[in-house]
Amino acid sequence: MDTRIVCIKPDAIDEKTIAQASEVIKNAGLVVFPTETVYGLGADATNPAAARKIYAAKGRPSDNPLIIHLHSPEAVEPYAYTTDTFYTLASALLPGPLTVVLRAKESIPKETRAGLDTVAVRIPENPIARALILHSGVPIAAPSANISGTPSPTRAEHVISDMSGRVELIIDGGDCDIGIESTIIRLHDDGGATLLRPGRITEDELIPHLSYLKIASAVYDKLKDGEAVISPGMKYRHYAPKAPLYLCDGTAERISDYIGALSGKRRVAVIAYEEDARAFDKIEGVRLYSFGSRQDSLFQAHLLFDLLRRIDKEGFDEIYAPLPDKSGVGLALYNRMIRAAAHQIIRL
Ligand code: TXA
Ligand code: MG
Repeated sequence: MDTRIVCIKPDAIDEKTIAQASEVIKNAGLVVFPTETVYGLGADATNPAAARKIYAAKGRPSDNPLIIHLHSPEAVEPYAYTTDTFYTLASALLPGPLTVVLRAKESIPKETRAGLDTVAVRIPENPIARALILHSGVPIAAPSANISGTPSPTRAEHVISDMSGRVELIIDGGDCDIGIESTIIRLHDDGGATLLRPGRITEDELIPHLSYLKIASAVYDKLKDGEAVISPGMKYRHYAPKAPLYLCDGTAERISDYIGALSGKRRVAVIAYEEDARAFDKIEGVRLYSFGSRQDSLFQAHLLFDLLRRIDKEGFDEIYAPLPDKSGVGLALYNRMIRAAAHQIIRL
């Protein structure tokens, strides 16, 4: 398939290009588009054939459901059973990087929701995404626009490399602001919720609008054998670079001693906070990548997937990174990084 690539600036949206992209969506085609979190691989969520094309293009298992993207909270009504809590959350936090899982209506085909009786809804903030949804006149189903298992795409070059030849159109809208996928919660009928995937919207921002917030154990840990899966995406290896990634829990000095003692024949990349960089100066042959300042988890979220992709291109044998702290946006980093590392944590 020939893939057309068009450029749109978020602050000067070209209506003609948006109209062309919505034609592709209405004709059951695939359009890669930017959101404020990561790039999405979009298709008409109400069309089963279009939804199937998404799974094929990504190489995604068909039991892992898709998020549907809408323009406003009211636009959710034909597709899911909303609750008062949904509208309270929406008026405080949406449009924005929050996805809410609700009971689905029949108008969303089982292909889109992978057979579940719920559907994940998201109202993005990125103006290009919003214009595309509005012009298409249908909810747009969109997972992250990466090949399944690889780091999510946060820059146009990532989607051009993963999706060329697999989709009709790629909209290059520049770098994604946030760089890490939306926070996902499952809303319950009693006004409480379960956090399924942490993101830029933190627990502290959600709690005032909910009667309680539980954290799904898979947010922190590996699923145990036989454990019920409440969000199918939890069980797959994710965000993984080609070289094995190890997360180190310890002071920069101890991490540096550990890496220094490894065989000099291995090509090693080290991701380190700015404040710790000097601890690694003394190790010969190690390539150092800055993860920004230790406290700046927003910056780290913005950088993470691009950094993993850049490191991949250089062809290292091993990658070492600090185990992030779990507070605030740090929980989203922790959640993505333990998956990227296939839960390999070195305690030092
Ligand atoms: O920021 C984002 O959310 C991006 C942009 C493109 O909007 N999308 C995204 O989609 O990250 P995806 O498919 O890569 O991740 C969605 C996750 C998957 O782990 C999936 O299992 C889960 O959401 N999910 C989707 N529908 C669900 C449902 N009904 N119940 C529980 N989990 C669901
Ligand atoms: Mg994804």
